[in-house]
Amino acid sequence: MNDESLDGDFDVQTLLVHAGNPRRNLRPTALSIYPSTSFITDSPEQLDDIMAERVHGHSYARHSNPTVEGLTEAMRLLEHAETVIATGSGMAAIDAALFATGLRAGDTVLLSRDLYGASLNLVGKVWEQYGIVSVVVDLTDLQAVEAALKQLRPKVLLFETVSNPLLKVVDAPALVSMAHDVLCQVVVDSTFTTPLMARPLQYGADLVVHSATKYLGGHGDAMGGVVAGGAKYHDALHQYLKLRGGVLGPFEAWLIHRGLQTLAVRFERQCQSALQLATRLEETGRLRAVYHPFLASHPTVETAKRLLPAHLGGAVVTLELHGERREAYRFLKALKVVRPATTVGDVYTLCLYPLIASHRNQTEEERRRMGITEGTVRMAIGLEHPDDIYADIVQAIEAAERT
Ligand SMILES: Cc1ncc(COP(=O)(O)O)c(C=O)c1O
Repeated sequence: MNDESLDGDFDVQTLLVHAGNPRRNLRPTALSIYPSTSFITDSPEQLDDIMAERVHGHSYARHSNPTVEGLTEAMRLLEHAETVIATGSGMAAIDAALFATGLRAGDTVLLSRDLYGASLNLVGKVWEQYGIVSVVVDLTDLQAVEAALKQLRPKVLLFETVSNPLLKVVDAPALVSMAHDVLCQVVVDSTFTTPLMARPLQYGADLVVHSATKYLGGHGDAMGGVVAGGAKYHDALHQYLKLRGGVLGPFEAWLIHRGLQTLAVRFERQCQSALQLATRLEETGRLRAVYHPFLASHPTVETAKRLLPAHLGGAVVTLELHGERREAYRFLKALKVVRPATTVGDVYTLCLYPLIASHRNQTEEERRRMGITEGTVRMAIGLEHPDDIYADIVQAIEAAERT
């Protein structure tokens, strides 16, 4: 059935299937959602050309989809990348990036000790089944990193610029150059920094990943991931999608793309509120510690000031409450404006207790080395007025202190 031919005498059964589908070459201003799983080509020759990537086009949604392509094209420009894929979650993006590095049994992956817990487990438990060795290092200790790189000759170094939940900022450009000296590829998880705070490919990282579920989408209603890198990763990344199949759906791609359009205003406001709250909360003297990359008390403040844009220190504040798990639970239960939830980057301020969420699979010893205690709570600052967030946190601290 060709375009414009639906006015003929068709059966209701046929019309039900075809009527209302796009017939004309519309030019909407916003990205459109294409839920189609396959795409019609004009000829077998054209399909052959698309499949061979001789011409641009779409054939099957596991290979490509126009809505998802809107998001990947935006991320390509934002990250200064040559190739980008979108995946069904941030974890799938990290998995795809590791796949694209060409890891083989016997290879070593060097991991930041402060990496997101599930990322540590992905390499340490899943990739380990395929003979990959994982070694964890403290990336704030550049001498230890250099020694590990020289001794282990890892194939991949994986880290986050700003760690979760204690917000340590690493010297990412120095790490990239040290890794490249021993031919080690660098994968940076830029979820907490977004392209506004850091563009790792520009300082030489090989691949950058995002959990788009967080700030990029920004509204807590879509899961997704993104991997961006140089042209040499194109084939492996696309093979990952075609054969492993962890693609992003068009609805999620559309939501995340729409989120990107307001990322700058949302994220800048959230960063501003986070720094203001961290400063005010530290001044109360009612907490064992307050973590924010720009607080003078933060152990990596010098690196943060040198490497991060002056107005963007990230939108997370981590608190060290007095007391133990009992007090932390009281604090969590007393919050009214802040919602207890296990994510970051939404419009709402969210509070996470790492012990039972992000770092529940780490041993007590591992958590101790990371600096996570029974009093650690992570606040991902949203778009509410900072005075309301502050008042809510202070009343929850008071509730936690009550015996
Ligand atoms: C830094 C970081 N990377 C990756 C992920 C995984 O993302 P997703 O939940 O979208 O799979 C998360 C999730 O919390 C994260 O915080």
